[in-house]
Amino acid sequence: MVAASDGAGPWPGGTGVGGVSEAAARGGDRRAAVTAVHAWLAGAPAPIGPAAVARFPFAPVLRHYRAVGRGYAGDELVGLLRTIHSRLSGGHASRARLAWPLPDWLPSTADQAGGGYDGYLAVPLLDSPAGADLPPHRAAADLLRALAADLLELEVRALGRRPGRVQRQRARACLGVLARLRADAVPPPSADEDLAELAAAWIAETAETTAPRVRMVTELSLLPMTPLHDEQMFVRCLQLFETLYRRIGDALAAARDALVRLAVERARVLVADAAGLLALSPALYRVVTTMPPEVFAVIRAHTDGRSAIQSRGFRRIETLCGGSLQEAALRAGERLGGVATARLCADLTRLDEAWCAMKRTHWGITVKIIGTVPGTGGTTGAEYLRRAAAVPLFPALAARPVGVPA
Ligand code: HEM
Repeated sequence: MVAASDGAGPWPGGTGVGGVSEAAARGGDRRAAVTAVHAWLAGAPAPIGPAAVARFPFAPVLRHYRAVGRGYAGDELVGLLRTIHSRLSGGHASRARLAWPLPDWLPSTADQAGGGYDGYLAVPLLDSPAGADLPPHRAAADLLRALAADLLELEVRALGRRPGRVQRQRARACLGVLARLRADAVPPPSADEDLAELAAAWIAETAETTAPRVRMVTELSLLPMTPLHDEQMFVRCLQLFETLYRRIGDALAAARDALVRLAVERARVLVADAAGLLALSPALYRVVTTMPPEVFAVIRAHTDGRSAIQSRGFRRIETLCGGSLQEAALRAGERLGGVATARLCADLTRLDEAWCAMKRTHWGITVKIIGTVPGTGGTTGAEYLRRAAAVPLFPALAARPVGVPA
């Protein structure tokens, strides 16, 4: 299976796992998207404000991008979107806020040449919905559920169109992600119809409780490079991980600040929050592992230079833990001693074990899907990940383990 340079084929024939997306099967309309953006641009005021943003033809642009893939959107449309972005750049921050979400979204539509990981996942857009009426914590929690519900919808629809073993396994794994986020212990139904019914109910409930700005971010942030169904799944999983990393990083930064104030019990609550969030990662990796290796080879060819090794959220956690958080925990231990700080260190050690387990799972999946070829981020690939999985989050705590039970 080789990608044609115009995006028209020969992509695989079917839809769902191993095939193209539903959007690709429906087909795109480049002309309609170009015409709509031209018309909008001709009538757009300067500076661009909320009324003009509300008229922006997001739907035909997204339809086209998802049908052919971002890599094949076409020079004319990409050029138009770039022109709009340049009109927005360089203004005051308040003007950029008035034009939301365009300043955060447009760069990801026009970074075909030389774009990085953040642009691939539209990370600035994912980070953007919080505001005066939407606290960052609520925005991130809503976003996790909305992304998981969108992924579930994608895979359950694919199962309905073309039932098959791997597609079923994937749809069930996606249900597992949303179940975990809802703290729902319902066992996944075995019949496809029952699975679809339960998924539909959960998706509807999620939509009802999701803040409108988060709904918009979820809708706009799916911009795969290819028309392949599996890439849509991959983008959503990476976005879920990125949102998770952000929340884990926020909880651990707050735990560090609490420890600096010697508020050990508060720090323990925050570390428990981080551990609870990290507990979603096995469910997410159960989805990722359904990626067919031959499809991922095509996705990789379209995402060179966009490796998760560039993830700022992931790196922030490792830097924070091995640096100021570990330091604050050791200081609190020296200043206060006692059972509370020993328990805190035990909590951190358990978090470290879960983090390293996540890294080992990632390494195992990498071996299964790409074998021993180098990574798209310029490392040796699996061998790099094997070594990285052995590096603890809290080296100083790992060097002096604490034997106090929780
Ligand atoms: C098909 C599945 C995947 C494969 C084959 C894969 C492969 C790789 C490879 C080869 C690397 C090494 C860096 C490089 O040269 O690119 C890497 C790094 C990384 N990947 Fe993945 N990956 C997969 C899925 C994911 C997912 C879903 C996430 C979630 C965000 C993720 C997060 C990371 C992170 C954070 C790193 C940097 C790790 C470090 O520096 O310790 N990967 N991946």
